[in-house]
Amino acid sequence: MTTRVLTGITTTGTPHLGNYAGAIRPAIQASTQPGVDAFFFLADYHALIKCDDPLRIARSRLEIAATWIAAGLDVEKVTFYRQSDIPEIPELCWMLTCVTAKGLMNRAHAYKASVDQNVAKGVEPDDGVNMGLFSYPILMAADILMFNAHKVPVGRDQIQHLEMARDIAQRFNHQYGQGHDFFVMPEAQVDDEVATLPGLDGRKMSKSYDNTIPLFEGGQKAMRAAVMRIVTDSRQPGEPKDAENSHLYALYRAFSTPTQSALFRHELEDGLGWGEAKDRLCDRIENSLAPMRERYAGLMAAPEKIEDVLQAGADKARRQSGAFMARLREAVGLRSIGGNAQAQAGGTVKKAVAKRARFVSFRDEAGQFRFRLLGADGKELLLSEPFADPKAAGAAIKHLQTNSLSELSSEQAGVVSVRMGDAVVCRFAADDLSVIDEAVATLNQD
Ligand code: TRP
Repeated sequence: MTTRVLTGITTTGTPHLGNYAGAIRPAIQASTQPGVDAFFFLADYHALIKCDDPLRIARSRLEIAATWIAAGLDVEKVTFYRQSDIPEIPELCWMLTCVTAKGLMNRAHAYKASVDQNVAKGVEPDDGVNMGLFSYPILMAADILMFNAHKVPVGRDQIQHLEMARDIAQRFNHQYGQGHDFFVMPEAQVDDEVATLPGLDGRKMSKSYDNTIPLFEGGQKAMRAAVMRIVTDSRQPGEPKDAENSHLYALYRAFSTPTQSALFRHELEDGLGWGEAKDRLCDRIENSLAPMRERYAGLMAAPEKIEDVLQAGADKARRQSGAFMARLREAVGLRSIGGNAQAQAGGTVKKAVAKRARFVSFRDEAGQFRFRLLGADGKELLLSEPFADPKAAGAAIKHLQTNSLSELSSEQAGVVSVRMGDAVVCRFAADDLSVIDEAVATLNQD
């Protein structure tokens, strides 16, 4: 069993040290584990919700993509793409929007926080709230459900969004699944092992607190300058330091082996001066970043290479999303009027649709030869009568495929019998005729 792991980063900013250690590094690490099929993407549609500066959005997509690649992502192994290159995501978003209760969205933390702030300010509750912010969790659910992710590594603040994604998935499954689940239930993966880096002031490192240490931007110099601004207490060199409660030590740990951290801790407790401690922290960080920074600079100087990687990623992702969307459209009733699902589907989707139904031959318990017709979802649509000879079973399959089903069949008391000459090939309930006919029809266009 492979585990599909999926996560996205909103493209509004320039990656900082906290993004790297808290999200990118652990995600890349997870993607190298056996049995993991990883999907990482740039959440650029989400970016439009909070940012209306086109240059910022464009720049951020480039920087974040370059950061993932420079940090060692194996773009051949994982599926790495931009959300906005996958048209099936907004399409799914709309289908999900139509099964999502408005009341569920009213309860979303991000939306409620905006309302609370407005109320506190004495303005209209929905002042400045756009529909993107309001339905943010539905777009996020579409990101996740589109690829049927099992695990979604996120920060604690996103746990509610995952609960909503499950809620929405369940409603869709219930409404359209007819006993078959389209979506798996995704789970948030909040890893306590993963470093949440403190920022310069000791609060969580975050762009919104303006307390970040840059990752690549400004080079080693900018990184050092930021480290020098980390808040420490006033203890002098020679005085023992409280390592456990110092932000410096927390940052050091995120870039060191346990042995290196233990040593640093002892030195602090033995009175290492803060100035020198900062120098050592810079060296440790630099040790990790230097090779990546070089790759980053190379990529930023050749953005067309990044574009190529993202295009290839989008192709790979769309092979899945296109086929899945064809099934979802079918499920909600957005079908071809002529019963030919394929006629509506274009490009890559076409092949996937053609592969939908299939005949499967097998030997039954009595040693007789039979076959089944399976729908796209693997459900049995039809079971044949037994044949003594496998060739006869094969001929019967061919017969079904080359003749119109309704011409071969006769109905009696709600049961349809399909004949080949005198022999009955299969029987099924009359209600199932149109579904079976349609499945065979798509099969024949292969
Ligand atoms: N909302 C996430 C964040 O702000 C970004 C995101 C968008 C995401 N779609 C996602 C994360 C899907 C995981 C899965 O961090």
